[in-house]
Amino acid sequence: MILEISHLKKYFGSVHAVDDVTFSVVDGENLCIIGESGSGKSTLAKLMIGLLKADQGQIQGERNHIQMVFQDPCSSLDPLWTVRSILREAFYCQKISSEAQLKAMQEILQAVGLPGDILNRFPHEFSGGERQRIAIARALLANPKILILDEAVSSLDILVQKQIIDLLMDLKREFNLTYIFISHNLRIVKNFSDRIAVMREGKMIEIGLGQDIFDRPGELYTQQLLSAAFDYQV
Ligand SMILES: Nc1ncnc2c1ncn2[C@@H]1O[C@H](COP(=O)(O)OP(=O)(O)OP(=O)(O)O)[C@@H](O)[C@H]1O
Ligand SMILES: [Mg+2]
Repeated sequence: MILEISHLKKYFGSVHAVDDVTFSVVDGENLCIIGESGSGKSTLAKLMIGLLKADQGQIQGERNHIQMVFQDPCSSLDPLWTVRSILREAFYCQKISSEAQLKAMQEILQAVGLPGDILNRFPHEFSGGERQRIAIARALLANPKILILDEAVSSLDILVQKQIIDLLMDLKREFNLTYIFISHNLRIVKNFSDRIAVMREGKMIEIGLGQDIFDRPGELYTQQLLSAAFDYQV
């Protein structure tokens, strides 16, 4: 196990955004989290990376080696910063010379399929897919073991989604990553997942092998989610 989450809770007033969630993440897996809008997926992700503080519960394991890529690279990449300053942020707690930083930045840009000479450009000068590659590059520069992708391809057209998914698969092998992939796109989830976790009203109601969840969902709610996505007969 690379991460153990136990009895995690986060309430916003009367909203039980994450409500007593317990699960583990296996080293090297693709764990997909699905569930309707407002079910607590992003809140759970933000608790895992420490962007939010839990009311109760524990996160044990490689919690200091988690990075996150958000849905909308326009809002996660500061428009006033160059690619260089965006990427350099990843080094803020590492003691690395500026030459070594430059080398690492160029290597990571190459790994995500971008040219190394874009360091002086600003986020608005790129396409959505390119911006998401920059966000992935920034996350990888921090040497994570776990990458949380929260709707990270949802704002992209379908061909670019496929390119980014293929890129993620390559990067996973190259950098030995574990993915937590949050998505409403069950077609992508079906192809991408080793395991699937289902969230509903702050609770994780089901977790299992992707194939099993698709073939034999244990919960009626999961059946309904799948049938809504694929027009299955329930
Ligand atoms: N900072 C906040 N303050 C108050 N309520 C919040 C806050 N963040 C989230 N919530 C509420 O917590 C619940 C869970 O939200 P969350 O963003 O985790 O859902 P989600 O599953 O990621 O939804 P989506 O699929 O639409 O992204 C929602 O009811 C939301 O309104
Ligand atoms: Mg969300």
